[in-house]
Amino acid sequence: MKFAKRMDNVKASAIREILKLTEKPNLISFAGGLPAPELFPVEQIRNITGKILDEEGEKALQYSTTEGYNPLRELIAERLIEKSYIENITKENILITSGSQQGLSFSGKIFLDNDDIVLVESPSYLGAINAFKASGCKFIEVETDDDGMLIESLENAIKENDKVRMIYVIPDFQNPTGKTWSLERRKKLLEIANKYDLPVIEDNPYGELRFDGESIRPLKSLDTEGRVIYLGTFSKTFCPGLRIGWVLAEKEILEKYILLKQGEDLHTSSLDQREIAMFLKEYDFDAHIETLKNVYRVRRDLMMDSIKKYFPEDSKYTYPEGGLFTWVELPEYIDTEKMMVKAVEKGVAYVPGESFYPNGGHKNTMRLNFSNMNEEKIVEGIQMLGEVIKAEIK
Ligand SMILES: Cc1ncc(COP(=O)(O)O)c(C=O)c1O
Repeated sequence: MKFAKRMDNVKASAIREILKLTEKPNLISFAGGLPAPELFPVEQIRNITGKILDEEGEKALQYSTTEGYNPLRELIAERLIEKSYIENITKENILITSGSQQGLSFSGKIFLDNDDIVLVESPSYLGAINAFKASGCKFIEVETDDDGMLIESLENAIKENDKVRMIYVIPDFQNPTGKTWSLERRKKLLEIANKYDLPVIEDNPYGELRFDGESIRPLKSLDTEGRVIYLGTFSKTFCPGLRIGWVLAEKEILEKYILLKQGEDLHTSSLDQREIAMFLKEYDFDAHIETLKNVYRVRRDLMMDSIKKYFPEDSKYTYPEGGLFTWVELPEYIDTEKMMVKAVEKGVAYVPGESFYPNGGHKNTMRLNFSNMNEEKIVEGIQMLGEVIKAEIK
């Protein structure tokens, strides 16, 4: 069969094979980025769904507009104005997507041609890397420290390459590192984007999951030129299975996303959009997020304490103030992909870090998720992982 050329860029990665190992029963898995399923509001959704079907079942099961269910678009805009300091937006700036993953995929299609370059943090979100790859683009990993991309490296990458077309960042509790950009760095990134007239994709699934410290304004709230495209989602604050996310952008830009979505899947599920809208209206969404944060904070603390106790002393790791992940760097000679087989044999899994670097390398790193396993399993799993790592230490 002759496939389109773009499929050359869409290959199964080694990581997929590795992650198949995590299907083993009873495995303690710190691999997936899964929320805690016991915190899904199953009963409330049962009630909501019944009510929607009673009150407007025919509409909820009918085709609807590509832009999304208007009351949900309005609720999202109101929430962003209230919580994220984003001003001057209405529902007209919001397109409902099938998860923020769809917003990523559309961003690649809208801004990237073959051989164009996207600038990403080093490391960056694997799902975004894969989504952009389908456009045949190349990646430049911009050197990144605890405050975000190094601005000098960012500017040099743009100056030295005339095919840079887009900057993609996750400023809050980044996937995979759990790091958060400082306000200063956010402002500087925007200065550079303005200077070189580049679009910025701000991907923010974790911003509302802050366990301690003060929240930092999103790039979109600092954007004076309408060049930030903000991707949001209910996957981590509600339920990922509903697949409800959104793109927030200036109207002329959003129009491109709407046109693409029309051709892609017409619209996101009418019923699922109504379910979230009704939850936002009739239940206390802030209280729900507070519950998530309280559970995840305890799990984060337990994971960090256990790492300190059971990992070799010279291991480096991030201390996330929110989100779902911590990031570990082991001595350079340790290959976490090879080590994964031994870890899984023992009964514990993680994601080897190399897959988050579009240009490879950094084999001594790993991502650990702390939201999905319960407290007991976190301690047990980190202890096992500590033993696996110690056995690799020369
Ligand atoms: C940084 C980032 N962006 C986007 C997504 C996709 O989320 P969804 O499509 O479920 O909204 C994820 C999921 O883990 C993520 O970590």
